[in-house]
Amino acid sequence: MNKILKKRQLTQNIHEYVIDSPEVSRHCLAGQFIILRVDDEGERIPLTICDYDREAGTVTILVQSIGYSTMKLAKLNEGDYIHDFAGPLGNATELEEFANIILVGGGVGSAVIYPQCKQLNRDGRPADIIIGARNKDLLIYEDEFRDNAKDLYVMTDDGSYGEQGFVTTKLKQLLDSGKAYDCVFAVGPMPMMRAVANLTREYGVHTIVSMNSVMVDGTGMCGGCRVTVGGQVKYACVDGPEFDGHLVDFDEAIERSKFYREIEQEHKCKMEG
Ligand code: NAD
Ligand code: FES
Repeated sequence: MNKILKKRQLTQNIHEYVIDSPEVSRHCLAGQFIILRVDDEGERIPLTICDYDREAGTVTILVQSIGYSTMKLAKLNEGDYIHDFAGPLGNATELEEFANIILVGGGVGSAVIYPQCKQLNRDGRPADIIIGARNKDLLIYEDEFRDNAKDLYVMTDDGSYGEQGFVTTKLKQLLDSGKAYDCVFAVGPMPMMRAVANLTREYGVHTIVSMNSVMVDGTGMCGGCRVTVGGQVKYACVDGPEFDGHLVDFDEAIERSKFYREIEQEHKCKMEG
C-alpha cells in the first residue's frame, strides 16, 4: 500500500499526486513508468513518472480522469492509500547523444517531457520546449517548463492563450526559421505524435515518441502494448515506451488504442451514474 502524500488539481480532470514510494523513487529515471491498482480488484493503470525525490522517497504522477479506473483514483485524497504501485518499468529516455533538442508536449502528454526538461536543465543544456493544449484551462506545468526551458512556446488550439495553433504549427515555424535541432522528443496523443513524425521526416530530424499503448502486465507477457516499429513487433512496456517516431506504425497503433473504448465508455457511464 502506498500513501498519497499530496494531491493537486491542475485542470478540471487532471490531478497531480505525490506518492510515498521509496523503492520506486530510489531506482527510477526520466522516461520510465509505474503501473498502479487503486484497489485489489482494480485494473492496472500505467502512468509515466513525472518527477521523483530520492531523499523524500516520493514519486509524482499525473492522472487524467477519463475512464472508470482513473475516475476511481480521482476520488482518492491526501492520506488515502493506493493498493499497488509497481515500478519503475520500461526504459529511461536517452538524450545524451543529442546537442540541440526540442521537447514537444501535447495536452496531458506534456507531463512526460517534464522530467527530461528538468534533467537537461540540470545538466546545463536546457532545451527549447513547445507545449500545446486545446485551450488555456488545459495547459499544465507552464511555470515549471518556463523555469527549465531555453525558450518556451505555448500553443492553444483556440488561441485562448499563447499562440493559436497545434504544437506542429510552432515546430514547423521553428524548423523553417533554420533552428538546427538534432532531436525532437514528442509526447502526446497518438495523432499528434504521428503529425510530428510526419513533419520532422521532411526535415530529416531524428524524432523520439513515447507510446502509451494499452498495457496489462507491463512485463512483455500479455501482448497488450504491441506496436510495430520498423516492421518489427515491439512491446511498449519492455522495448519502449520510447521509439524512433519515423519507424512507428501509427495507423495500426491508433486502431489498437480504440480496442477497449466501448467497454471503457460503458464503465465510465456507470461511474458517473
Ligand atoms: P489533446 O487531444 O487535447 O491534444 C493536445 C495537443 O496536441 C493539441 O492542443 C495540439 O497541439 C496537439 N495535437 C493534437 N492532435 C494533433 C494533430 N492531429 N496534429 C498536430 N497536433 C495535434 O490531448 P489530450 O486530451 O490532453 O491528450 C489525451 C491523449 O494523450 C490521450 O489519448 C492519452 O492517452 C494521451 N497521452 C499520451 C501519453 C504518452 O506517453 N504518449 C501520455 C499521456 C497521455
Ligand atoms: Fe503486456 Fe506490454 S503490457 S506485453
